[in-house]
Amino acid sequence: MSIYQRIAVILVALFSLSVWAQNDKPTADDAKAFQQKLSDITIKPYHQPLAATGRDASCQLCHGAKTPTTPANDSNCLTCHGSLDQIAAMTEPKSKEGHPEPNPHNSIHYGKDVPCSTCHSEHKPSQVYCNSCHLFKYPNMKP
Ligand code: HEC
Ligand code: HEC
Ligand code: HEC
Ligand code: HEC
Repeated sequence: MSIYQRIAVILVALFSLSVWAQNDKPTADDAKAFQQKLSDITIKPYHQPLAATGRDASCQLCHGAKTPTTPANDSNCLTCHGSLDQIAAMTEPKSKEGHPEPNPHNSIHYGKDVPCSTCHSEHKPSQVYCNSCHLFKYPNMKP
């Protein structure tokens, strides 16, 4: 076999492998593992009031689904937390004295348009996206 024929054989093998992987339907074990993953999920201490609605309902409040497969939609955060303008108003520095840190909810780069979960995670520690470039502190941000 020439080197090209050998490469062709490898490519065909890889392709059929990937087709096979796609046809691999979820089994009962997969479904069980997925349920286990969902039941291990916890929400933030500050969102415990949501848990009072019952576990499935609490997932639905943010995800719109009892068995979420995608991250929560921002529009659901806004249902409870108010408009982007109201959220920006909450964290507007009260005075310009003493070099206050800039408003994370209304920045010179992105305005009010950064998706909530870029900074506020729900099932893992939150992070300040701005700090991939800056060194802001935001001591009042809940972890
Ligand atoms: C069903 C209503 C509801 C939804 C949906 C919701 N929250 Fe909340 N959130 C609350 C309540 C109630 C509190 C606790 C009271 C408070 O501090 O305002 C809270 C607290 C918070 C806090 C802490 C506030 C503080 O005092 O520091 C953050 C941050 C937050 N939510 C972000 C989010 C984000 C991001 C989403 C969407 C992924 C979201 N919330 C979805 C009701 C909701
Ligand atoms: C760029 C990062 C970032 C994004 C995006 C972001 N936040 Fe925040 N958020 C913060 C930081 C930092 C604080 C703490 C700031 C402070 O208190 O001075 C905060 C505080 C809050 C608080 C508590 C405010 C207070 O003073 O009681 C709420 C509620 C909140 N965010 C909700 C949201 C929601 C809802 C979204 C999406 C619309 C969002 N945030 C998007 C970084 C972010
Ligand atoms: C307060 C809003 C909120 C609540 C309540 C909530 N989630 Fe989430 N969820 C999020 C956000 C935001 C993300 C994006 C990743 C992160 O922040 O950890 C997410 C991500 C997920 C993911 C990962 C999706 C992916 O990207 O593959 C799963 C699974 C999930 N949530 C399950 C649940 C389950 C189960 C519940 C109910 C017990 C629940 N969530 C309750 C906000 C919420
Ligand atoms: C990808 C890197 C990057 C990210 C992410 C980023 N910035 Fe910046 N930021 C910069 C650079 C670079 C400058 C300097 C630009 C100039 O002076 O023209 C700057 C300047 C600024 C300034 C004006 C100068 C100063 O330091 O006072 C503010 C305020 C600011 N950024 C706030 C934010 C906030 C708030 C966020 C998050 C919502 C953020 N930035 C996210 C790179 C970034």
